Amino acid sequence: MLQGKCVVLGVTGGIAVYKAVELLRLMIKAGADVHVIMTRSAQEFVTPLTFQTLSGNPVHTELFNLIQEQDIGHISLADSADLVLIAPATANFVGKVANGIADDLLSTTVMATKAKVLFVPAMNTNMWENPLYRQNQKHLEELGYHFVEPVYGELACGWQGQGKMPDPQVVFNSAHALIGSKDFAGKTLLVTAGPTREEIDPVRFLSNYSSGKMGFAIARASRDRGARVILVSGPVHLADPKGVETIHVTSAQEMYREVTEKASEADVVIKAAAVADFRPVERGEQKTKKGDTETMAIALQRNPDILAELGKQKGSRVLVGFAAETEKLLRHAREKLQKKNLDILVANDVTQDGAGFDGETNIVRFLTADGQTEELPLMTKDEVAEKLLDRILTLLPKD
Ligand code: CTP
Repeated sequence: MLQGKCVVLGVTGGIAVYKAVELLRLMIKAGADVHVIMTRSAQEFVTPLTFQTLSGNPVHTELFNLIQEQDIGHISLADSADLVLIAPATANFVGKVANGIADDLLSTTVMATKAKVLFVPAMNTNMWENPLYRQNQKHLEELGYHFVEPVYGELACGWQGQGKMPDPQVVFNSAHALIGSKDFAGKTLLVTAGPTREEIDPVRFLSNYSSGKMGFAIARASRDRGARVILVSGPVHLADPKGVETIHVTSAQEMYREVTEKASEADVVIKAAAVADFRPVERGEQKTKKGDTETMAIALQRNPDILAELGKQKGSRVLVGFAAETEKLLRHAREKLQKKNLDILVANDVTQDGAGFDGETNIVRFLTADGQTEELPLMTKDEVAEKLLDRILTLLPKD
């Protein structure tokens, strides 16, 4: 994913420095060669040794250090970088760069580089809102520097507001979008996510626990790897991913209509949605009253199986399904793979800790049409998405 990429990770002094450690770990895991530069105040929070141990490279701290200069000077660091990533970036550091000041190793490197530069500001909310800071960031953005916005939350200083450094994974994803390989360029991926809702009456519905997180992770990862992405999502509490054509639907029938219409444009269809298999035969016009009855039955009728329909007219399209099971995982999964004419089925046992609907992680197996099964360890949904895309890539015709 970041194999062969050189990242200069600039760490400035803020309480969020600890998140830069996790960010470094993610970069290394993705195959990047990371060189860390720490400002003097960053070293008050975490020692260079932590970054050195994790990166496997010496940490750079001084502008004029004979030993460091001999190895890899600030100019050569600036030259060899594919990305200079400043995380966390203090208001002071952003202000310095915005005003052309280069008085330490990190600001000199930013000044000297022709690589992409991504700032991850983290600061007190009043500083974040200060017109001076806003002006500095705006100026840098106009010059082509990139920023990941801080998130809302409780800040170290006790204030509530915007200013917190986002999750390392979010920062990693932004960095990856800037320099990661675009191995899906020219391809269109249709992804479905979330649950569907089958209305009983104007105030009630049948649904399931799907959060949409897995499908959204796949949509973002595909976009970052250069694909055109169409996301058809059931009702979820997630923001539409930037740069993804997102279509919102409610019921399985609506999802069926949208997916079958868009499928002709897609090279790959990934159905991560948890589609309701049945809907009420009748939807009450008014709220159903409980009356005096102790029990009640709702007659249900079968929804179309979207994936099975696509499997019937598959052509050269790569078809990927998901199966959330609570028992006999492999047997059920293999049956679905064959019955729906899929290339890959992603199976997960939702009763396992760390797998399932609302969490950030998943434990999955990939079953493929050639009879193979690959078992993956517990990983984040973003990581599962990357692994799945790696698999899909092997099935796409080489251009
Ligand atoms: N699926 C679909 N349309 C449906 C039901 C399921 O497209 N009406 C897709 C899902 O998006 C998923 C795959 O089929 O990719 C498997 O879904 P799942 O609910 O696990 O399996 P079902 O085929 O519905 O079988 P069962 O409910 O009996 O386990």
